[in-house]
Amino acid sequence: MDLGYKDKAVIVTGGGSNIGRAISLTFAGEGANVVIAEIDPSQGEKVAKEADALKAGGKTIVTQCDVTDLDSVSAMIQKAIDEFGRVSALVNNVGWDQLMLFTETTPDFWDKIISINYKGALNCTKAILTHYIDNNGGSIVSMSSDASRMGEFREAVYGGCKAAINSFMKTIARENGKFGVRCNAVCPGVTIPGSSEDVGEQSMWADRQIGFDDDQLEKIKRAYPLRKIGKPQDVANTVVFLSSELVAGHITGQVVSVSGGYSMVG
Ligand SMILES: NC(=O)c1ccc[n+]([C@@H]2O[C@H](COP(=O)([O-])OP(=O)(O)OC[C@H]3O[C@@H](n4cnc5c(N)ncnc54)[C@H](O)[C@@H]3O)[C@@H](O)[C@H]2O)c1
Repeated sequence: MDLGYKDKAVIVTGGGSNIGRAISLTFAGEGANVVIAEIDPSQGEKVAKEADALKAGGKTIVTQCDVTDLDSVSAMIQKAIDEFGRVSALVNNVGWDQLMLFTETTPDFWDKIISINYKGALNCTKAILTHYIDNNGGSIVSMSSDASRMGEFREAVYGGCKAAINSFMKTIARENGKFGVRCNAVCPGVTIPGSSEDVGEQSMWADRQIGFDDDQLEKIKRAYPLRKIGKPQDVANTVVFLSSELVAGHITGQVVSVSGGYSMVG
């Protein structure tokens, strides 16, 4: 199926690691021009090389960016526009978590989680909207989590931010649909990297900072109706589909789980 990405430019925040890496490579494989916006540009460059090796016709560039800082995000969006003229899709992919009971968390930890997971998406959405409104629209897909729907153990603040992402995407979709702007959220279940090479030093999977051990992963598998842990490519396929004006041009304001059936919302 042609997804219509030839000569289109897309931005993937955190596009150097795990799910973001798979999203960047899937867009590149579809012939898109890809901007990997990373706090860790060396990991982004590794993925850009992999994207070039696909020889699918697009160009991949890396720009250093901290999504928690609006000035840094605005500069990143301007660089994408200067390089490619028009941006068609933004994926707010950056996220971070460390598993802890709420009673063990501190206000500093809340600030970090809120800043990376929620404020990052606010900054990137704010910075791209004027460009979209001036150019007859574009897509935003924000990475949420099934934690937003399940009230997951040890993910109180993170799950709250991801629930905020779902609501935020719906409001932005409602306010800006008349300008051709589509917004959706994608909720992965646990999605582990294929190899340690696929994650950067700032990834929550580096040294398993997030805190899942093998026993917990086995338990999680048993809780999923499909009895398997997700792969980054599972999520990337959904994100790249939803970002395509050609095939998903009438889908907006939706929250889609890619989690082996862990949450089922009708
Ligand atoms: N992997 C999972 O199990 C899972 C499950 C549910 C939801 N999610 C969500 O999916 C998204 C991707 O998860 P992942 O496992 O690929 O994450 P990851 O930690 O492997 O990758 C995140 C990337 O973002 C970059 N980054 C971190 N802070 C940044 C900042 N301030 N500015 C710019 N870049 C920054 C890191 O360098 C890294 O490359 C996140 O939003 C996460 O919350 C993941």
